[in-house]
Amino acid sequence: MAPRSVLLGIGSNAPANIVTNDDMSKRMDTSDEWIVQRTGIKERRMGLAGSKWSDFVVPACEKALEMAGVKAEELDYIIAGTLTADMYMPSGGCTLQMLLGAKKAAGFTVAAACSGFVYGLTIADRFIRCEPNLKILVVGAEMVSQRIDWEERSTAVLFGDGGGAAVLTGSRPEDGDRGILASRIHSDGTKWGLLYIPGGGTEHPAYDGSDPKAHTVHMRGNEIFKIAIKSMAGACEEVLADAGLSGNDVDWVVPHQANIRIIEMVAKEFGIPMEKVIINVQRYGNTSAGTIPLAFDEAVRDGRIKRGQTVLMPVFGGGLTWGATLLRW
Ligand code: UT7
Repeated sequence: MAPRSVLLGIGSNAPANIVTNDDMSKRMDTSDEWIVQRTGIKERRMGLAGSKWSDFVVPACEKALEMAGVKAEELDYIIAGTLTADMYMPSGGCTLQMLLGAKKAAGFTVAAACSGFVYGLTIADRFIRCEPNLKILVVGAEMVSQRIDWEERSTAVLFGDGGGAAVLTGSRPEDGDRGILASRIHSDGTKWGLLYIPGGGTEHPAYDGSDPKAHTVHMRGNEIFKIAIKSMAGACEEVLADAGLSGNDVDWVVPHQANIRIIEMVAKEFGIPMEKVIINVQRYGNTSAGTIPLAFDEAVRDGRIKRGQTVLMPVFGGGLTWGATLLRW
């Protein structure tokens, strides 16, 4: 059997500062009841003023490296799925390369919004299939709190900060049939206007004195809702077909955590019982590219997801982007 891309370790982290729904309702016209009913979110983490993306991302990477038994100096690539790295340039991948001391690694960032971690896993998987000895750190982490319009309650209550990282390499004989079984990514740029941040690019440059709100998340939640369900369910079907498996073969689904209702509908559409779905949106909100590694890491460390089990990770986000990774942990 050709080597697969095995996840040797996973780690996650989020800023310590907890912001509850009641805290949000002190800043805007909203309520704990509305947020819980419509989204399932009870609280989220938000980095304090002066803190930055790498402050919580570096410890997540170190946890993943420790579980993997891999030193930062051994990494060949760092692929950071994020839109909110410390600076516009250098990329988040390069910043992590410096801070982790990953001397020989090439670092880069994948701007796939919420889909950044699944995009990163897919890219790493393709690299490793060509060169099984590579060691790659894939990161999905976001500091969305700095991109929130505090006057737009329909988006402000949804997001939070956090994320995680995984270390991958080619499978060795002792790994058996563990590893990534299938991974697919997609995009539809024609629907960009449903979820976007206009400012900071060349169309609305950061230095043109334009409305600061240009740098915040703009979303048409209702329309996104339906497309998210269809796209994630479709991506699940694709990767299962690629791997020659069915929904019954899946032990756990670790979906993108944007809204509990979306998660429930994807599970229903796909015929997966909710007992098999890992959910932590109630504690973190939507951390964009951070949701899947954050939920996956928690479930691995508390013993729910066990070595050898089959895990399905569907995702959806701005771009529009979507996809799914199917792996045997
Ligand atoms: O991560 C990637 C992609 N993102 C998503 O997948 C998000 C997808 N969308 C959603 O999760 C949901 O559409 C939302 C949670 C954003 C909104 O839920 P909804 O059930 O679609 O609500 P709505 O936008 O239709 O708004 C219903 C009502 C409106 O009031 P009226 O017009 O009915 O009087 C809103 O003004 O709820 C009002 N509303 C709020 N009320 C209290 C909107 N936001 C809030 C709020 N607090 N925070």
